[in-house]
Amino acid sequence: MIDGDHLNFNVLERFLQRPEPFASGEKLFWNDPHISKGMLAAHLNPAIDAASRRPETIEKTVNHMIRSMNLKAGDKILDLGCGPGLYCKHFAQQGFSVTGVDYSQRSIEYAEQAATDHSLDIEYKYMDYLDMNYCDTFDAVLLIYGDFCVISDKKRDLLLRKIHKALKPDGYFALDVSTKIHRKKNGLKNRWYAAENGFWKPEPHLVLENGFDYPEENLYLDQYLVIEKCGKISVYRNWFHDYSLGEIREVLEAGSFSVQSAWSDLTGKPYKENSEWIGIVAKKESLI
Ligand SMILES: C[S@@+](CC[C@H](N)C(=O)[O-])C[C@H]1O[C@@H](n2cnc3c(N)ncnc32)[C@H](O)[C@@H]1O
Repeated sequence: MIDGDHLNFNVLERFLQRPEPFASGEKLFWNDPHISKGMLAAHLNPAIDAASRRPETIEKTVNHMIRSMNLKAGDKILDLGCGPGLYCKHFAQQGFSVTGVDYSQRSIEYAEQAATDHSLDIEYKYMDYLDMNYCDTFDAVLLIYGDFCVISDKKRDLLLRKIHKALKPDGYFALDVSTKIHRKKNGLKNRWYAAENGFWKPEPHLVLENGFDYPEENLYLDQYLVIEKCGKISVYRNWFHDYSLGEIREVLEAGSFSVQSAWSDLTGKPYKENSEWIGIVAKKESLI
């Protein structure tokens, strides 16, 4: 991209236009050998709500989920996008039969080691949950920390069909989605910075961050252009589809789920119009 003293602006400009909704960035993100190191550290940092929420929130969430879904020891739970297994561990300690699925190899290896260290019998699978094929197996399926928001409507509906199939009759699906209040509060400021080594790359690089808004679709993109010393450009994209309670209810009902309860989060804080998140428990109904 650098030609003598000249920057090839045409190359850069391509990435500065608002892309099509859900246009993909680099394939490797969660499973990138370097990025996944920083990501695991973020999951495990008890002081921040980064890749996972703080330990006290996780514990409260697990207890609230058990109560609100009427779960009993021995019930089978599937945690989709389980990361390093922070929720799985708590459920297993309370006597549940737990399966965790994630496509970060590093997180799954950490989770397996933690289960061994605590003598917990948890099944972990390194897999894309869009490829899962369970049938009538689980009493509850969890999808925690906004994963429903980051995929296109087409993939979201596919995932919903797979979750419906994976659940036993009358099984429960618990998830949380962000609202536009969250976006308003946390919207990305456009900025750039240079780093010797950092979250995105182990070598010197430049990061151009920009946010794109798609208000007509309740959609937002956080984009990170990472330029290495050799001129290589990588683009990382985090898409967020924010929901209102009405919209998420409609999507779940179209997928043959009925919303049983909705809160401001999955710890059970009462739902308010200005909630940043919506925590939901939905029940599997017969296919429409
Ligand atoms: C925001 S983190 C949340 C992790 C965990 N649910 C928690 O709250 O601690 C999202 C997780 O989902 C995983 N993930 C994202 N898309 C996935 C997919 N299609 N299949 C499997 N795992 C996925 C990522 O690797 C990451 O561990």
